[in-house]
Amino acid sequence: MGKKLKIGLIGAGGIVRGAHLNPGWLQVPDCEVAAVCDIHRLTAEKLAGDFGIPQVFTDYRELLKLKEIDAVDISTPNRIHTPAVLASFAAGKHVLCEKPLAVSVAEIRQMAAAARKAKKLLMTAQHQRFRGESIAIKKWAEAGNLGGVYHARVNATRRNWLPVNPGFIDPKLSGGGPCMDIGVHALDTAMWVMDFPKPVRVSGRAAVNFAKGYEIPGGWGEWDRKLFGVEDFAVGFVHFENGATMTLEASWLQHQGGEDFSFTLLGKKAGVQWPEGRFYTSSNRVLVDGKILPEAGLPPPHTGEIQAFAKAVREGQKSPVPVEQTLYVIAILEGIMQSSRLGREVKLKLP
Ligand SMILES: NC(=O)c1ccc[n+]([C@@H]2O[C@H](COP(=O)([O-])OP(=O)(O)OC[C@H]3O[C@@H](n4cnc5c(N)ncnc54)[C@H](O)[C@@H]3O)[C@@H](O)[C@H]2O)c1
Repeated sequence: MGKKLKIGLIGAGGIVRGAHLNPGWLQVPDCEVAAVCDIHRLTAEKLAGDFGIPQVFTDYRELLKLKEIDAVDISTPNRIHTPAVLASFAAGKHVLCEKPLAVSVAEIRQMAAAARKAKKLLMTAQHQRFRGESIAIKKWAEAGNLGGVYHARVNATRRNWLPVNPGFIDPKLSGGGPCMDIGVHALDTAMWVMDFPKPVRVSGRAAVNFAKGYEIPGGWGEWDRKLFGVEDFAVGFVHFENGATMTLEASWLQHQGGEDFSFTLLGKKAGVQWPEGRFYTSSNRVLVDGKILPEAGLPPPHTGEIQAFAKAVREGQKSPVPVEQTLYVIAILEGIMQSSRLGREVKLKLP
């Protein structure tokens, strides 16, 4: 057993308490959470007290001065990701950062350059890739069963689950609404199964249909209508370099039956639905339906993601969710927002 990997947590809110720590870091062998930072001292102290984390900070620059910290796990509101990631690389730490990694292509490029310069690993926390359903569908697609995807339908739409924290609805903190918040999950997973075709053109529309009013009761309670400055609905249409297309819908509030968190990939050999794993094909003029069973025996997806990060850092491997892939994902989401503002399709200039 080598030296323990020492971890610093930056941000100690809902996702850290609910999914990154226990289960999460506390289940990863040879790792130790050595410090936690939150601008709200009480939040950091409470987490430290509950989970035995020895050091508490309210400024991540102070945490980053600790020589013994090898890697940080960043779970602040979205707009704080970029400064925290850049400071972490400047301090020579490996970085796992929550989604959306950033809300613009320019910031993602800055992060990628900083990671290269520091020679440290950067992983986007896209935990949906670590679900048993996702892993099985990815393996099935890699075996050639889809036969080239020509269209994808991606959905992250909710009836009335609007996150009420300022970190999600104040554009200065979140940088976007459901498109960046939940669209990013379904989009990243769909792009991963599609093997990351290069997006070249995007059009979209973002709107506030319900969030300024009181018609739809929020499942997580009330939010500040004045502070609300992002979209509550977005839709996009994407063209890829290989000729494939995609539609993407994201919402927090709308009149629909519950939540639709899914995608369908249509290929020349078969079509598949995530996360159900249902697939549809034909053989010798006979219609055939099937079901891909989830990979069994896996830890919860956030724990799987954290284990993959720790292993990659330890063994000097490539990032399990590399920034080059996240660049395409964020380019699509930013493109939808830009297109909505400009009222026309936008061209993406990507490597
Ligand atoms: N992968 C997932 O399933 C998932 C789920 C929820 C949230 N998230 C992401 O995780 C991030 C945090 O979300 P959350 O639900 O935990 O939000 P949250 O509001 O519960 O927690 C965010 C915490 O960050 C702290 N913070 C703000 N600015 C800071 C700074 N400069 N330095 C240190 N701490 C700071 C806040 O005080 C707060 O405690 C967001 O980027 C969000 O998109 C991911």
